[in-house]
Amino acid sequence: MTSTPADARDRNLTWHQNRLSADARRAALGHGGAVVWLTGLSGSGKSTIAMALEHRLVSAGRVAYVLDGDNVRHGLNGDLGFGDADRAENIRRIGHVAALFADAGVICIAAFISPFAADRDAVRGRVPPGRFFEVHVATALDVCEGRDPKGLYRRARAGEIARFTGIDSPYEPPSAPEAVIDTQGRALSECVDELEALLTEGGVFDR
Ligand code: ADX
Repeated sequence: MTSTPADARDRNLTWHQNRLSADARRAALGHGGAVVWLTGLSGSGKSTIAMALEHRLVSAGRVAYVLDGDNVRHGLNGDLGFGDADRAENIRRIGHVAALFADAGVICIAAFISPFAADRDAVRGRVPPGRFFEVHVATALDVCEGRDPKGLYRRARAGEIARFTGIDSPYEPPSAPEAVIDTQGRALSECVDELEALLTEGGVFDR
């Protein structure tokens, strides 16, 4: 955004243009800002991959930061539940935060179920072209349910948790993601290699 939109003017708000260009930030950091958006079922491996990718990137001197569903719901989105409208609002807010991180030059790794394609597409639209990497962590439901790291699938099947994704709440897989990762039978380091290569091929790194 470079100017004050009409609806903001009506509310006496003025857009303050940042004086640092994206190129200046990029020159300082040695890479561009980006959003790696991991979407998939609970227990699919999103958080594990996100944390490992963050570790890999930061160890190599990159500026990277994970935004994780469970964590963000402790704070910023602590007022939101799991109905469709609240999930949409969850992703809308996170989308803005992720776009701000990317604008700051950070490689933002977002790990959210983000079950609805329209919400994910809206986030893509907030990030400069070529800087949004949608990654479907496509671990099958029966595998996620078999892992059940938090015991939530068992509780959902027992009727103790309503609107659980994959059980009685829908998940819309991405139709054209930048990458699809099935974690079953794959080493974590291989998954991270794949995402690092995606960022390299996407021209994120200068050095
Ligand atoms: S999203 O659907 O709005 O994108 P988000 O990624 O923030 O979900 O949070 C998902 C996490 O919340 C899950 O990993 C799980 O630990 C927890 N959770 C609690 N209730 C539910 C539910 N009904 N459906 C899915 N996840 C839930």
